[in-house]
Amino acid sequence: MEPRGRLVVMISGFGSNLQAILDACREGRLWAEVVLVVSNRRDAYGLIRAARAGVPTLYFPLRPYRERGLDRIAYDQDLADQIAPYRPDLIVLAGWMHILSSAFLDRFPGRVINLHPALPGMFPGRDAIRRAFEAYRRGEISCSGCMVHYVTPEVDAGPVLVQAEVPLYPEDTLERFEARMHEAEHRILVEGIRRALERLRSCEP
Ligand code: GAR
Repeated sequence: MEPRGRLVVMISGFGSNLQAILDACREGRLWAEVVLVVSNRRDAYGLIRAARAGVPTLYFPLRPYRERGLDRIAYDQDLADQIAPYRPDLIVLAGWMHILSSAFLDRFPGRVINLHPALPGMFPGRDAIRRAFEAYRRGEISCSGCMVHYVTPEVDAGPVLVQAEVPLYPEDTLERFEARMHEAEHRILVEGIRRALERLRSCEP
Protein backbone atom coordinates (compact mmCIF):
# COMPACT_ATOMS: atom_id res chain seq x y z
CA MET A 1 0.00 0.00 0.00
CA GLU A 2 1.09 3.59 -0.74
CA PRO A 3 2.53 5.44 2.25
CA ARG A 4 0.24 8.15 3.59
CA GLY A 5 0.79 11.62 2.12
CA ARG A 6 2.71 13.87 4.50
CA LEU A 7 0.93 17.19 4.98
CA VAL A 8 2.17 20.37 6.57
CA VAL A 9 -0.84 22.62 7.19
CA MET A 10 -0.35 26.36 7.64
CA ILE A 11 -2.97 28.44 9.43
CA SER A 12 -3.50 31.87 10.96
CA GLY A 13 -6.81 31.55 12.75
CA PHE A 14 -9.79 29.41 13.65
CA GLY A 15 -8.64 26.33 11.78
CA SER A 16 -11.99 24.86 10.74
CA ASN A 17 -10.36 23.78 7.47
CA LEU A 18 -7.47 22.22 9.36
CA GLN A 19 -10.11 20.31 11.34
CA ALA A 20 -11.72 19.12 8.10
CA ILE A 21 -8.33 17.73 7.02
CA LEU A 22 -7.66 16.09 10.40
CA ASP A 23 -11.13 14.50 10.38
CA ALA A 24 -10.74 13.23 6.80
CA CYS A 25 -7.35 11.67 7.68
CA ARG A 26 -8.69 10.08 10.87
CA GLU A 27 -11.78 8.69 9.14
CA GLY A 28 -9.76 7.27 6.24
CA ARG A 29 -11.38 9.54 3.64
CA LEU A 30 -7.96 10.98 2.88
CA TRP A 31 -4.88 8.77 2.67
CA ALA A 32 -2.63 11.29 4.42
CA GLU A 33 -1.37 12.47 7.79
CA VAL A 34 -0.75 15.95 9.13
CA VAL A 35 2.89 15.95 10.26
CA LEU A 36 3.08 19.62 11.31
CA VAL A 37 0.79 22.60 11.80
CA VAL A 38 2.38 26.04 11.40
CA SER A 39 0.83 29.28 12.59
CA ASN A 40 2.09 32.85 12.31
CA ARG A 41 -0.29 33.82 15.14
CA ARG A 42 0.08 32.62 18.68
CA ASP A 43 -3.66 32.90 19.44
CA ALA A 44 -4.77 30.86 16.40
CA TYR A 45 -7.37 28.37 17.64
CA GLY A 46 -6.12 25.93 15.02
CA LEU A 47 -3.04 25.39 17.21
CA ILE A 48 -5.33 23.96 19.90
CA ARG A 49 -7.02 21.72 17.33
CA ALA A 50 -3.58 20.44 16.26
CA ALA A 51 -2.46 19.79 19.83
CA ARG A 52 -5.70 17.92 20.54
CA ALA A 53 -5.03 15.71 17.52
CA GLY A 54 -1.48 15.07 18.75
CA VAL A 55 0.10 16.90 15.81
CA PRO A 56 3.36 18.87 16.35
CA THR A 57 2.95 22.64 16.04
CA LEU A 58 5.24 25.51 15.12
CA TYR A 59 4.45 29.12 15.98
CA PHE A 60 6.51 31.26 13.61
CA PRO A 61 5.78 35.02 13.74
CA LEU A 62 6.98 37.70 11.33
CA ARG A 63 7.25 40.40 13.99
CA PRO A 64 10.76 39.54 15.33
CA TYR A 65 12.07 39.79 11.77
CA ARG A 66 10.50 43.23 11.34
CA GLU A 67 11.90 44.34 14.70
CA ARG A 68 15.41 43.31 13.64
CA GLY A 69 14.99 45.17 10.33
CA LEU A 70 14.96 41.91 8.34
CA ASP A 71 12.75 41.52 5.32
CA ARG A 72 10.10 38.96 4.41
CA ILE A 73 12.62 37.04 2.31
CA ALA A 74 14.63 36.22 5.45
CA TYR A 75 11.42 35.13 7.18
CA ASP A 76 10.37 32.97 4.21
CA GLN A 77 13.80 31.32 3.99
CA ASP A 78 13.85 30.49 7.72
CA LEU A 79 10.28 29.24 7.56
CA ALA A 80 11.21 26.90 4.72
CA ASP A 81 14.21 25.70 6.78
CA GLN A 82 11.90 24.89 9.70
CA ILE A 83 9.44 22.97 7.52
CA ALA A 84 11.85 21.03 5.27
CA PRO A 85 12.89 18.45 7.93
CA TYR A 86 9.24 17.29 8.08
CA ARG A 87 9.62 16.15 4.43
CA PRO A 88 6.17 17.34 3.32
CA ASP A 89 4.57 15.85 0.24
CA LEU A 90 2.24 18.83 0.31
CA ILE A 91 2.08 22.13 2.13
CA VAL A 92 -1.53 23.22 2.55
CA LEU A 93 -2.34 26.88 3.20
CA ALA A 94 -5.65 26.68 5.06
CA GLY A 95 -6.42 30.22 6.17
CA TRP A 96 -2.72 31.21 6.20
CA MET A 97 -2.64 35.01 6.00
CA HIS A 98 0.90 35.78 4.93
CA ILE A 99 2.00 36.07 1.32
CA LEU A 100 4.78 33.61 0.57
CA SER A 101 7.54 34.72 -1.80
CA SER A 102 9.62 32.62 -4.19
CA ALA A 103 12.18 32.33 -1.37
CA PHE A 104 9.72 29.88 0.20
CA LEU A 105 7.86 28.52 -2.83
CA ASP A 106 10.99 27.55 -4.78
CA ARG A 107 11.99 25.22 -1.94
CA PHE A 108 8.83 23.11 -2.47
CA PRO A 109 8.05 23.26 -6.20
CA GLY A 110 4.58 21.96 -7.09
CA ARG A 111 3.91 21.16 -3.46
CA VAL A 112 2.22 24.26 -2.04
CA ILE A 113 -1.55 24.61 -2.39
CA ASN A 114 -3.95 27.24 -1.06
CA LEU A 115 -7.63 27.46 -0.24
CA HIS A 116 -9.36 30.72 -1.13
CA PRO A 117 -13.02 31.64 -0.53
CA ALA A 118 -13.68 33.03 -4.02
CA LEU A 119 -13.68 31.81 -7.60
CA PRO A 120 -10.57 32.21 -9.79
CA GLY A 121 -9.80 35.87 -10.47
CA MET A 122 -12.41 37.13 -7.99
CA PHE A 123 -11.70 38.89 -4.68
CA PRO A 124 -8.05 37.99 -4.06
CA GLY A 125 -6.66 38.88 -0.63
CA ARG A 126 -8.38 39.31 2.71
CA ASP A 127 -12.09 39.40 3.53
CA ALA A 128 -13.13 37.75 0.27
CA ILE A 129 -16.36 36.39 1.77
CA ARG A 130 -17.53 39.77 3.02
CA ARG A 131 -16.50 41.49 -0.24
CA ALA A 132 -18.42 38.92 -2.29
CA PHE A 133 -21.49 39.36 -0.07
CA GLU A 134 -21.34 43.14 -0.50
CA ALA A 135 -20.86 42.80 -4.28
CA TYR A 136 -23.97 40.58 -4.40
CA ARG A 137 -25.94 43.19 -2.47
CA ARG A 138 -24.88 45.81 -5.02
CA GLY A 139 -26.07 43.50 -7.82
CA GLU A 140 -22.56 43.01 -9.22
CA ILE A 141 -22.43 39.21 -8.88
CA SER A 142 -25.08 36.50 -8.60
CA CYS A 143 -22.88 33.72 -7.23
CA SER A 144 -19.53 33.24 -5.54
CA GLY A 145 -17.47 30.19 -4.70
CA CYS A 146 -14.19 28.83 -3.46
CA MET A 147 -11.14 27.13 -4.92
CA VAL A 148 -8.04 25.14 -4.11
CA HIS A 149 -5.09 26.10 -6.28
CA TYR A 150 -1.33 25.73 -6.57
CA VAL A 151 0.42 28.71 -5.05
CA THR A 152 2.38 31.17 -7.17
CA PRO A 153 3.91 34.44 -5.97
CA GLU A 154 0.70 36.15 -7.19
CA VAL A 155 -1.87 36.44 -4.37
CA ASP A 156 -4.70 33.86 -4.39
CA ALA A 157 -3.97 32.85 -7.97
CA GLY A 158 -2.41 29.85 -9.67
CA PRO A 159 -3.46 26.64 -11.44
CA VAL A 160 -6.77 25.46 -9.97
CA LEU A 161 -7.12 21.93 -8.56
CA VAL A 162 -10.80 22.13 -7.64
CA GLN A 163 -13.43 24.82 -7.37
CA ALA A 164 -17.06 24.99 -6.28
CA GLU A 165 -19.77 27.57 -6.73
CA VAL A 166 -21.47 28.89 -3.60
CA PRO A 167 -24.79 30.58 -4.36
CA LEU A 168 -26.05 33.78 -2.74
CA TYR A 169 -29.72 34.30 -1.93
CA PRO A 170 -31.74 37.49 -1.38
CA GLU A 171 -32.57 36.44 2.19
CA ASP A 172 -28.91 35.71 3.05
CA THR A 173 -27.12 37.28 5.96
CA LEU A 174 -23.32 37.44 5.87
CA GLU A 175 -23.26 34.74 8.57
CA ARG A 176 -25.45 32.35 6.54
CA PHE A 177 -23.44 32.88 3.39
CA GLU A 178 -20.22 32.40 5.36
CA ALA A 179 -21.47 29.14 6.85
CA ARG A 180 -22.38 27.84 3.37
CA MET A 181 -18.96 28.92 2.08
CA HIS A 182 -17.12 27.08 4.87
CA GLU A 183 -19.12 23.93 4.24
CA ALA A 184 -18.04 24.02 0.57
CA GLU A 185 -14.45 24.81 1.55
CA HIS A 186 -14.21 21.84 3.90
CA ARG A 187 -15.33 19.58 1.07
CA ILE A 188 -13.13 20.94 -1.74
CA LEU A 189 -10.04 21.25 0.42
CA VAL A 190 -10.02 17.52 1.11
CA GLU A 191 -10.68 16.84 -2.57
CA GLY A 192 -7.92 19.27 -3.63
CA ILE A 193 -5.40 17.55 -1.37
CA ARG A 194 -6.42 14.16 -2.74
CA ARG A 195 -5.92 15.37 -6.33
CA ALA A 196 -2.58 17.04 -5.62
CA LEU A 197 -1.28 13.88 -3.91
CA GLU A 198 -2.46 11.76 -6.85
CA ARG A 199 -0.61 14.05 -9.27
CA LEU A 200 2.56 13.77 -7.23
CA ARG A 201 2.28 9.98 -7.16
CA SER A 202 1.68 9.80 -10.90
CA CYS A 203 4.88 11.84 -11.46
CA GLU A 204 6.99 9.52 -9.30
CA PRO A 205 9.54 7.43 -11.24
C1 GAR B 1 -11.10 30.33 4.98
O1 GAR B 1 -12.32 30.89 4.57
C2 GAR B 1 -10.06 30.43 3.88
O2 GAR B 1 -10.58 30.24 2.61
C3 GAR B 1 -9.57 31.85 4.07
O3 GAR B 1 -9.44 31.95 5.47
C4 GAR B 1 -10.48 31.18 6.10
C5 GAR B 1 -9.87 30.33 7.19
O4 GAR B 1 -10.88 29.70 7.95
N1 GAR B 1 -8.34 32.07 3.37
C6 GAR B 1 -8.08 33.17 2.67
O5 GAR B 1 -8.83 34.13 2.64
C7 GAR B 1 -6.77 33.17 1.90
N2 GAR B 1 -6.67 34.33 1.10
P1 GAR B 1 -10.47 28.58 9.04
O6 GAR B 1 -9.36 29.20 9.90
O7 GAR B 1 -11.72 28.34 9.82
O8 GAR B 1 -10.00 27.37 8.30
